Amino acid sequence: MFSLLSVVNARTIDTLARWFRANARTLPWRGPIGAPRDPWAVLVSETMLQQTQVARVLERFPRFIRRFPTAQSLAAAPDHDVLAEWAGMGYYRRARNLHAAARMIVDRFDGAVPRTVEDLLALPGVGRYTAGAVASIAFGDVAPIVDGNVARVLLRVHGRKARVDDRETQRFLWEQAANLAAAGAKGRQGAGVVNEAIMELGATVCLPAPAMPRCEECPLARWCVARRAGAQARIPLPRAAANKKTVYCASAVVVDSRGRVLLEQRGDGGMWAGLWQTPTIERTDRAPTRAELARAAGIAARQLHACGGFTHTTTHREVEFRVYAGAAKPVRERGRWVAPGRLGELGLSSAQRRVLSIGAGVLRTPTRSR
Ligand code: ADE
Repeated sequence: MFSLLSVVNARTIDTLARWFRANARTLPWRGPIGAPRDPWAVLVSETMLQQTQVARVLERFPRFIRRFPTAQSLAAAPDHDVLAEWAGMGYYRRARNLHAAARMIVDRFDGAVPRTVEDLLALPGVGRYTAGAVASIAFGDVAPIVDGNVARVLLRVHGRKARVDDRETQRFLWEQAANLAAAGAKGRQGAGVVNEAIMELGATVCLPAPAMPRCEECPLARWCVARRAGAQARIPLPRAAANKKTVYCASAVVVDSRGRVLLEQRGDGGMWAGLWQTPTIERTDRAPTRAELARAAGIAARQLHACGGFTHTTTHREVEFRVYAGAAKPVRERGRWVAPGRLGELGLSSAQRRVLSIGAGVLRTPTRSR
């Protein structure tokens, strides 16, 4: 049986780092492997990458960092600008936390991203993973990181048939990750390069089921216990099925005679906190009716026409949307009339973008009142 020591040693670490230097994806937040990195850009990109796919972060990161190139610039920005720049990446709480973190960096750390895991953990929204990523990648600190990719690689290499979210497995993974970072720091590579290399391996080679891992390309294949046992596809064990709640939403795309669309801002708590939306109501027992939506939007039910629906899936919820549209003037106005060309300036969830695109037929014919 292979032991931990046989996997994490100078040779394997060297092999992994060499593979990374030769195969790392070119990513705008990365630059040449091993070259100094801007800690602010690392904090921003790692925050984005936690719950958003690389392809989407690739679209949004360059714009975000141009707009907010420093913690100071983000700290000074109004909330709605920050949310608007986060648009399309979901999990908007991260944007609020990053904003608050920027303010703390300015107030408590003289505008410089803190260097230690302990100080980084004081920033809102920064957990063990992000703190370890920034400390090791930006500052070369010997800090471990475990994300989903790292967990999968480590469990496979060690042949451990376990669930990632299990408490004992987490303890094991952080211990292994600490060994990796320490071995990286001891060798020539540095903890940051080794940490990023193992994340990259998980993201591009040691793929999760149902995609099969590309073991023939893997620099660790020789040492991988799962591979020897042919058990790659069965490791890690699946997470316990999440018990998703269903939420039913009805949204009204209401346009005025100038083609402007009526939007309101959500409250500070719960799903999509603080984001903008078309007048929307939600229930947990059944879909809201057209009459209920019309009442909430302050317009006559006959002015609203059903025009489609879709299911929006999040980690914990299935949100069933029904979309209605109408060219109407609400009697009870709340919210804001927004010209279609200015929608990009507001923080809108991807679900609401979809609502608006379904209602686009009405947006294109603003004066028609059916
Ligand atoms: N996923 C999250 N952060 C990453 C990084 N720095 N490199 C590769 N994959 C990642």
